[in-house]
Amino acid sequence: MLIKSPQSWEIPERLATSESVYLNRRQLAKAIAAGPIVAAAASMPFGAARAEEEAIEMANAQAAADPTLDLYPAPLNDAYADAGRSVTPEIDNLKYNNFYEFGSHKTIWQRAEDLKRRPWAVTFDGLVEEEKTVDIDTLIRAMNLKERVYRHRCVEAWSMVVPWTGFPLRDLVAFAKPLGSAKYVVMQTFEDSDMAPGQEQFWYPWPYTEGVTVEEAENDLAFMVTGAYGQPMANQFGAPLRLHLPWKYGFKSVKSIVRVTLTEERPTTFWKELVDTEYGFWANVNPDVAHPRWSQAEERVLGTNEKIPTVIYNGYGEQVASLYAGMEGENLFM
Ligand code: MTE
Repeated sequence: MLIKSPQSWEIPERLATSESVYLNRRQLAKAIAAGPIVAAAASMPFGAARAEEEAIEMANAQAAADPTLDLYPAPLNDAYADAGRSVTPEIDNLKYNNFYEFGSHKTIWQRAEDLKRRPWAVTFDGLVEEEKTVDIDTLIRAMNLKERVYRHRCVEAWSMVVPWTGFPLRDLVAFAKPLGSAKYVVMQTFEDSDMAPGQEQFWYPWPYTEGVTVEEAENDLAFMVTGAYGQPMANQFGAPLRLHLPWKYGFKSVKSIVRVTLTEERPTTFWKELVDTEYGFWANVNPDVAHPRWSQAEERVLGTNEKIPTVIYNGYGEQVASLYAGMEGENLFM
């Protein structure tokens, strides 16, 4: 898929099938609370169809029980209405995830049902005017939720397009009230191996930690996600609060955040600590810089399995390339 100018995400063409699922969700989000919408899966083998129904029912039940359900569907941000590719069907996204806290394989959706989404609080600390811990519902209601359709490119060379709901990361930073000396925004996932058995795998450097520079955090693309497909997001997407940085490899987009720390020092991030030679701090998408073990030239589209060329900065270069001017000495693309 080619990314066209002037603004890569504003291409009017949308494909009908997956789009209609998502548009229906926008229209019917309130009705979802009253009962599950079951996927039409008549042509599938019984077991597969049942699993699809179960995944959709589970996601809808989680959304229906969410205290912020009334905020959905949020108004669409017109600047990010179209990612230039068709939206990934929700079911494909629900059943193919990376969430190592629940297991180091893709099918963690059932295990993630154990994620306890409430009570949930986020702590703001480090170089801030005053440390504080805020209840997630208070935090979400203090923000102006909008929907944005974003591309997502995993370092493993698969990709998807998701209608996320959330608010700009810069609004979270403003909420934290950073001191002038802060240079990095660091975010961490919960730590609770009773709830998330993947965290019993002691060789991983829990808790999952990621970070960006304050300049990256101020970029309009950097997005805090609270919902997906027109409703509060499913557990496996990283409820109740995750990051999404569409120009970087997906591992930067930390899920289920409980701590936001402002620092002067660049943080040691989860994958970099685990395999320093394969996963860097910057992790900007670049088809010309191969991962040590595989090419990054192409990506497999989740849902269709089509192979398409990968684009530098995942097609968002106009918005972010200037962030890295003069930084040629850094490993910007791993
Ligand atoms: N955040 C946490 N806490 N744990 C994880 O395992 N995986 C990352 C990222 N955030 C991960 C995480 C990776 S590698 C990717 S590609 C995306 O989440 C996957 O997001 P998805 O499951 O919604 O597709």
